[in-house]
Amino acid sequence: MTAVPTLEDLPPVAGKRVLLRADFNVPLRDGEIADDLRIRAALPTIDWLRDQGAQVVACTHLGRPKGTPDPKYSVAPVRARLAELAPGVELLENLRYDPGEEADDPAFVARLIDGFDAYVNDAFGASHRAHASIVGPPQFLPSAAGRLLAREVEVLTGLRSNPRRPFVAILGGSKVSDKLKVIEALLAVADSLLIGGGMCFTFLAAQGASIGDSLFEEDMVGTCRALLDEHGDRLVLPTDITALGPGGELMRPEAGGDVRQLGTTIPAGWKGVDVGPGTAADFGDRIAEARTVFWNGPMGVFEDPRFEAGTRAVAQAVADAAGFTVVGGGDSAAALAQFGLDDEVDHVSTGGGASLELLEQGDLPGLAALRGEWKA
Ligand code: 3PG
Ligand code: MG
Repeated sequence: MTAVPTLEDLPPVAGKRVLLRADFNVPLRDGEIADDLRIRAALPTIDWLRDQGAQVVACTHLGRPKGTPDPKYSVAPVRARLAELAPGVELLENLRYDPGEEADDPAFVARLIDGFDAYVNDAFGASHRAHASIVGPPQFLPSAAGRLLAREVEVLTGLRSNPRRPFVAILGGSKVSDKLKVIEALLAVADSLLIGGGMCFTFLAAQGASIGDSLFEEDMVGTCRALLDEHGDRLVLPTDITALGPGGELMRPEAGGDVRQLGTTIPAGWKGVDVGPGTAADFGDRIAEARTVFWNGPMGVFEDPRFEAGTRAVAQAVADAAGFTVVGGGDSAAALAQFGLDDEVDHVSTGGGASLELLEQGDLPGLAALRGEWKA
């Protein structure tokens, strides 16, 4: 993959109007911004453009309003926060209010770029979408990657091409099927892959363990068994599990139900909901010895304080690690923030799906477009 053009590659932008595609798809709670990371992350690009004398107009999607205006997805709260952080930068209304955005409609692209002299993509988290605002403008305007996008690409493609070893990857999340491609991509480059989260139970089942009522994807058992056969001890599974007993409910301790540390044999009626303390310690040791670490996906149901220990231990180990540490994905970034550790890692990706797709494929539609290689 050739490099994407960066801000310095733009023709002079002094006095010019620059359209900035950002990913301000921030989490909202009761209409308030729960985490403004994605807005703050675009500031280096905005500041550079304004220092050069450009007039910056930003645009973003927010949520999935499905091509029709819906006040629930108004960018108003983002606009207010942006006005505090970067006064004078305009923000267009939610791109996904128009069906032309997701359809990559040429007429929508034409309306979007009307009156602009240059385009900057700093929307890393949306650059895996072949949507109008991502792949359209570079076909018509001088275009470049912003600072955030360029840094994400440098870090994540660097993991694929020349990681310092040992490279330890930790993956969580509920489904093997969602993560299969990234599991394969990581096994191709990492020295070991530690598996936690709901998806570990299908792997444990493939090894013949009884997993009780834990999350299970029956149709992935064969795939898991083949991965275990092929990669042997580079694929590391939990050796103990924290489980919730009969009658228990996630997020509702008042519902009762025992919580126990078990080995990897989980009785009927019990549900594995976190990796156990032995596994957390083992994963922590492996992370401490790594020179490169990539973590995506929680180890358990960390939103429930009874089951946060595994995710907290991994987050702490990543934060303490001396190696180069990268955290990708919305949930793991949220977990880091919940534990107050987000400043302790080298790179927290602003992209969930985008960071995994870049790791899997080494490229994204938004990057191809900036290189002038996008074909619809
Ligand atoms: C994200 O939050 O993952 C990005 O903003 C992309 O959003 P999308 O999954 O709705 O396309
Ligand atoms: Mg998403």
